[in-house]
Amino acid sequence: MTFKVNNKVTWVGKRDWELTRFHGDEYSTNRGTSYNSYLIRDEKTVLIDTVWRPFAKEYVENLKKEIDLNEIDYIIANHGEVDHSGSLPELMREIPDTPIYCTAAAIKSLKGHYHEDWNFIEVKTGDELEIGENKLIFVEAKMLHWPDSMFTYMTNDNILFSNDAFGQHYVADPMFNDLVDNDELYQEATKYYANILTPFSPMVKRKIKEVLDFNLPVDIIAPAHGIIWRDNPTQIIEKYMEWADNYQENQITIIYDSMWHCTRRMAESIAEGIKENDDAKIKIFNAARADKNDLITEIFKSKAVLIGSSTINNGILHSISGLLEMMKGMKFKNKKYAAFGSYGWSGESVKIINEELKSAKYEVVNDGIKELWNPDDEQLQRCREFGAKFGKEIK
Ligand code: FEO
Repeated sequence: MTFKVNNKVTWVGKRDWELTRFHGDEYSTNRGTSYNSYLIRDEKTVLIDTVWRPFAKEYVENLKKEIDLNEIDYIIANHGEVDHSGSLPELMREIPDTPIYCTAAAIKSLKGHYHEDWNFIEVKTGDELEIGENKLIFVEAKMLHWPDSMFTYMTNDNILFSNDAFGQHYVADPMFNDLVDNDELYQEATKYYANILTPFSPMVKRKIKEVLDFNLPVDIIAPAHGIIWRDNPTQIIEKYMEWADNYQENQITIIYDSMWHCTRRMAESIAEGIKENDDAKIKIFNAARADKNDLITEIFKSKAVLIGSSTINNGILHSISGLLEMMKGMKFKNKKYAAFGSYGWSGESVKIINEELKSAKYEVVNDGIKELWNPDDEQLQRCREFGAKFGKEIK
């Protein structure tokens, strides 16, 4: 199924309603996703991006119903990752000489994926392609989120084809921001930014400023995943500027894993103590039960985070070690941390969590708190006092 984005642009992508895991198992897509591919019909016919490889045959068959493939003059590959380029081999078997416009880095990534010497045309920021009434302007978007990423801007209709940027893993029908549940849309857009773009926040700010410096009006933002922004489309650009600027809300998140509920009881007592000195919204999660990408989103929104684990085999529980590894890659800014945990004899968990946080260059505000065996009233009172102290320390 295809649909009109406007009178010149048709969406020819694939809605993936059943996808629950993306990037292997790295990203949960609880609301599915879409791979957005766009067909522009001007004096020239242009195809922007394709869809993920498992849908390649279906994609090319559908595209044939929309247009004679030989009428496609140019293909634009805004990014080489397989969820957008995966149907190129199937498509290029049919139209092998069609030029593919992309960045120099995308030529490398596409050759690396497909080992094909297609008719690549390298483009740089500011390069233009005349297509009739409109023209296309290319803007490299290095590390947003791959070295090969770029945006394509279509003049007159003022459409920014932004590829992964401004996207969401969210599938709906229809696919316009004025026609979907905006709470869901923003939940997914925030999760997407937090999990995919946070490490690149400094580049996000620079790139958006660079694009704004072009003074190009934007009437539609057409990303490569999820909903198309056509109602007040710059709202998502403004949000990205906010999110890229050491974002935090008045929230404190406590995440733990617990073998026999001892560390859980510590977490709940610490939360009670925090409330004595801080009016922040407090959220508590068991890392072994919660969705890890939702946890990253909650950390992204927080001003302070407490991480807890019982000690096991002189180490920490694996859900917490996995989370700490994910957190390290996120390079969160502007947040404060502390550790806690229960133990029976050796008791290394707090020390290990502190070391992991510090090695990721996160600000750990104290030595943390550990409690022996199942905490009694006196120990839980110590946890409350620790929470109250933490509430002051993060001011
Ligand atoms: Fe970076 Fe949606 O691929």
